[in-house]
Amino acid sequence: MEVIILSSPESASSKAAEIFRGSIKKKPSIVLGLATGSTPLLLYKKLVQMHVSDGLSFSKVTTFNLDEYVGISADHEASYSSFMKENFFKHLDINLDNTYIPKGSVNDVPQFCLDYEKLIAGAGGIDVQLLGLGSDGHIGFNEPTSSLVSRTRIKTLTPQTREDNARFFNNRIQDVPCHVITMGVGTIMEAKHIVLLAFGAGKAKAVRDTIEGPVTSFVPASILQMHRKVTVIIDEEAAGSLLKKDYYRWVYENRPSWQKEIG
Ligand code: F6R
Repeated sequence: MEVIILSSPESASSKAAEIFRGSIKKKPSIVLGLATGSTPLLLYKKLVQMHVSDGLSFSKVTTFNLDEYVGISADHEASYSSFMKENFFKHLDINLDNTYIPKGSVNDVPQFCLDYEKLIAGAGGIDVQLLGLGSDGHIGFNEPTSSLVSRTRIKTLTPQTREDNARFFNNRIQDVPCHVITMGVGTIMEAKHIVLLAFGAGKAKAVRDTIEGPVTSFVPASILQMHRKVTVIIDEEAAGSLLKKDYYRWVYENRPSWQKEIG
């Protein structure tokens, strides 16, 4: 696990954007796993800028989103489908037919989840998976005590997550759905490269538990310690509780030059 601590969400998002740009340039038909929420917004802005100003093309890119609320339609303003269109897809040259987001309005959720897994496998698996981090250590919507080998399925949000996400529902917690469809922890772990972003003091405990705590389903993100290629990019505030903060900085500053080139 590489831990990169940068001064602000701005510089951390620039670093993440460089990684995504490098990966897309290397493999234009890349399969990306995408996240929603506040954390990736700056990264998406930067990738849009790269598309508009530098011609970074998404025309051959396929994307799979991590999750979606159950019980709201794709065109609901707080759906993750709307989020992705508004904040990312509509600004790119991406083929919308190649953008997959779980459907929260399907009748047969278990069948939909099986099909989603098949679609990911059929696309050749996820090359680079973007993750945010829940304040309780969730990834996707795999809440504490989720099976660490779980696949795409329905999950029940914790009261904490519903409270955290009420801001997308005009601060009406009662409007935040209780259920979601989410890629499983096992699904996420099959991505070839995982980039986890976390910003702000509210994430500091979850960041410490993820990187330095024991691997436990109580902190689903801690399973990332068992993945071969994870890049954690955080700002100073999110790094606030890390015990080995200075060591991670030192490692990053002293990367061999060949590693700097590949990002
Ligand atoms: C969203 C997702 C979640 C969020 C997490 C952090 O697609 O999978 O795991 O990444 O809840 O949310 P923010 O970024 O809003 O703090």
